[in-house]
Amino acid sequence: MKEIIVNGTGDLDRAARVFLEKSAGSRIVAFYGQMGAGKTTFITALCRAMGVKDVVTSPTFTIVNEYRDGKGDPVYHFDFYRINRLSEAMDIGLFEYFDSGFPCFMEWPEMIQELLPEETLKVQILTDDENTRRLLF
Ligand SMILES: Nc1ncnc2c1ncn2[C@@H]1O[C@H](COP(=O)(O)OP(=O)(O)OP(=O)(O)O)[C@@H](O)[C@H]1O
Ligand SMILES: [Mg+2]
Repeated sequence: MKEIIVNGTGDLDRAARVFLEKSAGSRIVAFYGQMGAGKTTFITALCRAMGVKDVVTSPTFTIVNEYRDGKGDPVYHFDFYRINRLSEAMDIGLFEYFDSGFPCFMEWPEMIQELLPEETLKVQILTDDENTRRLLF
């Protein structure tokens, strides 16, 4: 088990770089954590560390947002919070995203647990106190 402590929002960029090093090779990453745990915030920091210049916000009206990293390659950001059935995730071509070879960062992966590829890296985000987050993976 690996652990990264994030000491406030000012520590996010460092934590994101450390995460990218420690998770090297894991392209499909599922972020678990209660509402407000910091899933969107950490994915935003990860995207920034990868050179994404687009505005990174949680997909609200869609299930997936697509950004471009510093090389112009896609980065996919999913939020499954609002799906009602697995078919809604399948219908967007979920497996094509997973098979694309490009990073797939997910919020609320528990909503599609049955569809997660075996190689998915599972990350738990815990709130230690208002300003401290702990990532376990
Ligand atoms: N590492 C951190 N240190 C301090 N505050 C943080 C940290 N990460 C996130 N926050 C704060 O927590 C709040 C909620 O974060 P965020 O929206 O990322 O949560 P979420 O897990 O995506 O929630 P949801 O389940 O609703 O999508 C924000 O106000 C954010 O500034
Ligand atoms: Mg969110």
